[in-house]
Amino acid sequence: MSIRVRLLLSFGSVLAVAVVLLLMTSYLLSVAITGDMRSISSFYKIHYSLHPLTDEEETIFLDLKYLAKQDPGRLADDALLADYDGQLKMVQAGLFVKRDNKLLYSSPSIGEPKMLSALPGYDADNLSIRSTLNVGNRFFSYAKFDFPYPDGTQGSLYVMKERSPFAELVRTLLPILGVVLLAVIMLTGLLLYRYITRTMIRPLEVLKRSADQIKEGDLQFELKPQSRDEIGQLSQSFEEMRRRLKESIQLQLQYEENRKSLISNISHDLKTPITTIKGYVEGIRDGLADTPDKLEKYVGTLHAKVTDMGRLVDELLLYSKLDLRREPYSFERVDLMAFARDAAEESALELEGKGFIVDLDVASPGPLFVMADRSKLMRALGNLIQNSVKFMNREEKRIGIRVGTEGAHALLAVEDNGPGIPAESLPFIFERFYRGDASRNSETGGSGLGLAIAKQIAEGHRGSIEAVSASGEGARMIIRLPLADTGSAADAAIGLQTTKKRNGADG
Ligand SMILES: Nc1ncnc2c1ncn2[C@@H]1O[C@H](COP(=O)(O)OP(=O)(O)O)[C@@H](O)[C@H]1O
Ligand SMILES: [Mg+2]
Repeated sequence: MSIRVRLLLSFGSVLAVAVVLLLMTSYLLSVAITGDMRSISSFYKIHYSLHPLTDEEETIFLDLKYLAKQDPGRLADDALLADYDGQLKMVQAGLFVKRDNKLLYSSPSIGEPKMLSALPGYDADNLSIRSTLNVGNRFFSYAKFDFPYPDGTQGSLYVMKERSPFAELVRTLLPILGVVLLAVIMLTGLLLYRYITRTMIRPLEVLKRSADQIKEGDLQFELKPQSRDEIGQLSQSFEEMRRRLKESIQLQLQYEENRKSLISNISHDLKTPITTIKGYVEGIRDGLADTPDKLEKYVGTLHAKVTDMGRLVDELLLYSKLDLRREPYSFERVDLMAFARDAAEESALELEGKGFIVDLDVASPGPLFVMADRSKLMRALGNLIQNSVKFMNREEKRIGIRVGTEGAHALLAVEDNGPGIPAESLPFIFERFYRGDASRNSETGGSGLGLAIAKQIAEGHRGSIEAVSASGEGARMIIRLPLADTGSAADAAIGLQTTKKRNGADG
């Protein structure tokens, strides 16, 4: 059974119980008031039947009754009757006189056209002289006296008083009242039903539809909780679940996409040198290298290509090992100052012949300790220097190696006065296989893995790498490494220095 049906049933039963209770209450009330099983309206009738007139009216009635007994002839005198009616009118009552079923006198103040037919018939014994009667929808109590006129015609006189039609009203209104009450109860029930449907059933239906959508694999919708109640909370949890599910699926898809692009990149990068090598080998086989000079050139190119390929495979292997966290790190306390000095001297020696000026700029003369894997850090630094060399396009070729501190981090930076990195490339240069300018790269070579590897290594040291550059303004690559905890006196000095620096920044 659905909740809707259950709700309808429960409202239905509440309605039934209310109606039964209402009927029982009104019945018991009437019993309590009247003392017997008759209705309230009968109670009023009985009351007015017993006391139809007030004392003043009663006096006038007795006057008229005396006249009817003693001198009935005078009761045909219109002026006299009008006089009595006048007295009765003062106390909101009226007089009616009937003679042989015709109205001889009819009180103009009560004036009721149907009165004649409603008046009770002649009774010579005058058994019932006080009672009530309904004329149309008016309700009267009266005292009546029947008498013979001197000529033997039947005369009746009625002193009549209109009563509050309450009892009649009750009788006629009771069904309407019942209907209205019923309508009110039904309306209330309906409103409640609608309220509950709106606040409970509809959100549940939305939830169900959403669950169906997820079942079908559609996660693109958004579920907005309409309330803060339990159902709202349920919707919220559901929405959270949908969001997480979507994220995890997107991540999965991205991994898949990455894997595909990795494979396609690797195949492409291996395919190009292999095609060249194949061409040269075929050339040798077909006797194109017919002089020792040519042969030497061919073999030289082949060697260079194979070396390139070897380097590429090497880088690929290293990158994938770093990526899979398979490459072990052997950390040791390394003085970054000494490390950078060694690297700068080595590079200077190697690059001087190519016209480069390599200089070292360190923030403090003392040692700066970090926990590092020397060879990997050297590899990262080497990749940065290599790029600066590779992309250099100036007459005056400058490469700077900088060491400094920033908060709890040591900085190791390589900067050059080369072409710089255009802003649109900047976000992508640390992605594997990304090369800034494909056409230029075909001549400079490179796998697009250099910076990706440097980034892996920096992150392997719980550090980070950042590029600061603008097109045409040279590039600066900064590696941040956490400072090793300050153990020696020299370390303490560095620690003090960084604290001072931080304080300075605060002030
Ligand atoms: N010092 C630099 N000056 C200008 N561009 C650079 C520099 N270093 C890196 N780049 C840009 O970042 C790209 C990615 O570098 P990298 O990952 O080392 O790949 P590769 O050196 O094989 O091109 C380069 O192709 C180049 O466009
Ligand atoms: Mg590179």
